[in-house]
Amino acid sequence: MNNSKPITVNKLLKYKKLGRKITALTAYDYSTAKALDNSGIDFILVGDSLAMVALGHKNTLSVTMEEMLHHTKAVTRAVKRAMVVADMPFMSYQSDEKTALLNAGRFIKEAKANAIKLEGGYEHIINCTKSIVQSGIPVLGHLGFTPQFLNTLGGYNVQGKNFDTTEKILAQAKAIEKAGAFGLVLEMVPEESAKYITENLSIPTIGIGAGRYCSGQILVIDDILGKYQDFTPKFARKYANISLITEKAVSDYIEDVISSKFPAEKEIFQLDESERKKLYE
Ligand code: KIV
Repeated sequence: MNNSKPITVNKLLKYKKLGRKITALTAYDYSTAKALDNSGIDFILVGDSLAMVALGHKNTLSVTMEEMLHHTKAVTRAVKRAMVVADMPFMSYQSDEKTALLNAGRFIKEAKANAIKLEGGYEHIINCTKSIVQSGIPVLGHLGFTPQFLNTLGGYNVQGKNFDTTEKILAQAKAIEKAGAFGLVLEMVPEESAKYITENLSIPTIGIGAGRYCSGQILVIDDILGKYQDFTPKFARKYANISLITEKAVSDYIEDVISSKFPAEKEIFQLDESERKKLYE
């Protein structure tokens, strides 16, 4: 259990200044979020990756506001110390600034998140960032590979692979910083490009597949636990193999039920002697 003070936006900015790496993971449910919080993670992202790893969609585009709110509520019920960031799902902020602001507000008011995340660096996203931040909601940006742009990016491709595209990401990152975002996720960017972008920003960068020099790292919890087996990205380190452990536990259970080894005496409730007698006499 980690009893230190709750993590705030200011603390993350301080960590960047001190060169203390920021730690982040995704979570989508109560018990996982509790384990992450107890372990001392700095922030938890209720990522729209839940569309794939928790709901079985083939990409992140189908997850809805209601589904994201439902999972964010489960996470915030568990968390006492970490900062909880909710991912704004596809089409919850793309249409207009007012819709973006109202949807961002729902994550704070209804789901009790501490901040929201927006993907992309185009003018509309910068304007949304500005008005959401000015309404008192911290915003985390997200550049590099942005899964909600999957169809325009043409696949799961590394971004910022040359000087010009790295400069373009940096220009967008600076606009996001100027709009008031407290940090920036950099996804699938070459290490040198991510380092250059990180060094030219005052807000922290949180890398995922962006090398060793970002201000912090984030991964999808189902990847590090070996729970999601459909696909494991090159950058995701597996710390456990939960799906194998689950399969083994379930097959042991099946065997115990079939062979009547489960339930055993210590796993049952019994009548008092007098009541038992009445039942059988
Ligand atoms: O949805 C998600 O999990 C994310 C992280 C991978 C950064 O956006």
